[in-house]
Amino acid sequence: MIEKDFIPEMAGTLPETGTVSWQAPSNIALVKYWGKRPGQLPTNPSVSFTLDTSATRTTLKYRSVPAPSQVPVFRIYLDGVAAPHFAAKISTFFERICVYQPFLGAYEFEIRTENTFPHSSGIASSASGMAALSLCLMDLERAIYPDMIGEFFKKKASFLARLGSGSAARSIEGGLVEWGNHASVPGSSDLYGIPYPFEVHPVFSSFQDTILLVDKGEKQVSSTVGHGLMQGHPFANSRFEQARQHLDGLQPILREGDLPAFISLVESEALSLHAMMMSSNPYFVLMKPGTLEIINRIWEYRKDTGTPVCFTLDAGANVHLLYPEENKEAVGAFVSEELLSFCQDGQYLQDHVGPGALRL
Ligand code: PMV
Repeated sequence: MIEKDFIPEMAGTLPETGTVSWQAPSNIALVKYWGKRPGQLPTNPSVSFTLDTSATRTTLKYRSVPAPSQVPVFRIYLDGVAAPHFAAKISTFFERICVYQPFLGAYEFEIRTENTFPHSSGIASSASGMAALSLCLMDLERAIYPDMIGEFFKKKASFLARLGSGSAARSIEGGLVEWGNHASVPGSSDLYGIPYPFEVHPVFSSFQDTILLVDKGEKQVSSTVGHGLMQGHPFANSRFEQARQHLDGLQPILREGDLPAFISLVESEALSLHAMMMSSNPYFVLMKPGTLEIINRIWEYRKDTGTPVCFTLDAGANVHLLYPEENKEAVGAFVSEELLSFCQDGQYLQDHVGPGALRL
């Protein structure tokens, strides 16, 4: 599909009022998106595990207004409390998506949102948050165009979510999700995420993610700034090529359940992402001493026990421990005995691969 396919052609009948609720999950990338072109288009394809328990729940109330405006009027609440600090981000989002949902200006909205993970956990809620809001808005669009087919609903939800936060494009579907045009991935697009279209070994359908909260504070450098620094970055082209090669490399690994190869590819991706940050101009480091301690402990533990556990990182200091469900008990003991002392207030989140967004 191309961009213009997401602009409605017909006039529909606008409902006066309504309320919809959606839950959208967070995701953790195996091959990372880092660097973008105008229009929130990625400079390389990425693939992620959809998580389950880390999610955002959003309820959208809409009411038509007598005098439509260009961009809708809205109020936003986080955990029941007015959250004006989110207003700028949501306004920008509405401005970007108005062309694809031209009926938005005919409404005023009340957005009530809550995360299932503690806020200030250092876990980005932008992916799950933008996905949940986009799904609510698609529900309104479906009320206007009731013939809409399910596949289009999800694709457009991902398309809209991408315009709020790039990685949010991967927070609609469950399991493994690919986002970004790549010749060897049929159906792939820079515009939206798709369910990973290749055979996947069952070990990955219940993969675990223990998220170790090393630093719950605000990041010194936002991912928006980080993406921007890939422009003119001396290693940018090699990095984008590496991501494409990793995506191809993952295909037989995921099919065969080749855990040693999975581990080395996923850890290489995480460290390459942070290497890009450390070699940007200006340079920055988001890892903390605890991040490196944990990484070294994982390597030692893996060498000593042969347990197929690896780490990945997003744009922050927290560490995601990835491993098969059958190793849950052993890894749980390792986490409590050796890793929790490096977590802020000993905090962590237990998550696993999940089925994707859910209408509530
Ligand atoms: O969606 P953004 O702009 O917050 O970027 C997310 C980037 C990473 O989390 C570092 C990687 C990824 O692919 O999710």
